[in-house]
Amino acid sequence: MELRSFLCCAVLLIVFCFGNGHAKLAPDYIHPCNDTTSECLVKATQFALPEFVKGIPELGVPSLDPFTIDQLAIPLSGLKVTFYKGKVSGFRKCIVDNVISQLEKRYFGLEFHCNLTIKGQYGAVGKILLFPINGEGDAKVKLTNLRMKVDINTKYVKDENAVNHFAVRNYKYSFDYGDRVSFDLKNLFKGSKELSDTVLAFLNDNWRTVAEEFGKPIVDYAVDLAIRTIEKFFEKVPYEELVNVPIPQ
Ligand SMILES: *[C@@H]1O[C@H](CO)[C@@H](O)[C@H](O)[C@H]1NC(C)=O
Ligand SMILES: *[C@@H]1O[C@H](CO)[C@@H](O)[C@H](O)[C@H]1NC(C)=O
Repeated sequence: MELRSFLCCAVLLIVFCFGNGHAKLAPDYIHPCNDTTSECLVKATQFALPEFVKGIPELGVPSLDPFTIDQLAIPLSGLKVTFYKGKVSGFRKCIVDNVISQLEKRYFGLEFHCNLTIKGQYGAVGKILLFPINGEGDAKVKLTNLRMKVDINTKYVKDENAVNHFAVRNYKYSFDYGDRVSFDLKNLFKGSKELSDTVLAFLNDNWRTVAEEFGKPIVDYAVDLAIRTIEKFFEKVPYEELVNVPIPQ
């Protein structure tokens, strides 16, 4: 009897606390700015980043560091490349260079640079800069100071409880491969280590050209995933918990 009434109270308490729509959803590492100065936004974003990229399982927000690429075909003329069982890591240490939020204009801009490591398996058949290739094996790609700028057009939506949320209308991005991309691709020529090493050295000597030729599908994939992650977060966490500035009418 004692236990039953205790359980009753506990259930009522839970219903009261979480059922009234005021329970905070944003994790504690989100420190809402009281204005939209870049100074505050950069600081808040930099502070939240290492935790945010781990994902928020209870809100269904996936991890961005690491994030996985199950399989990705990279379409090139004359060369068929598949990248699979991939893992991308390093986002938690990105440096946030600028954050711009124009609430009235429904614009959100983000600039950052990062060192990233991409590990996985690859298969490649065809020709690469004149060299015939027929390889498969471990792949590791390191990017040093990849720079990225993302422009997001936002909108405001109300959920079923009439609570305001940010939403993504569309986005575009630009990036620069930065200071260096290094490739470590095992077994570029099945059965010839010497030839594999020669071609790998050549790819590394010409890293910018190679990155520009191969990199875009992977970067597109990463940015798309990051945007979908942010969308999921916006969908769950109300506008009011993200910024202490009244929503534009
Ligand atoms: C916003 O204002 C509140 C109340 O004055 C304060 O506690 C909080 O630290 C401020 N937020 C930031 C990011 O400065
Ligand atoms: C990336 O690594 C380089 C060289 O190790 C270092 O100088 C740079 O500060 C790093 N950049 C970031 C964003 O961590």
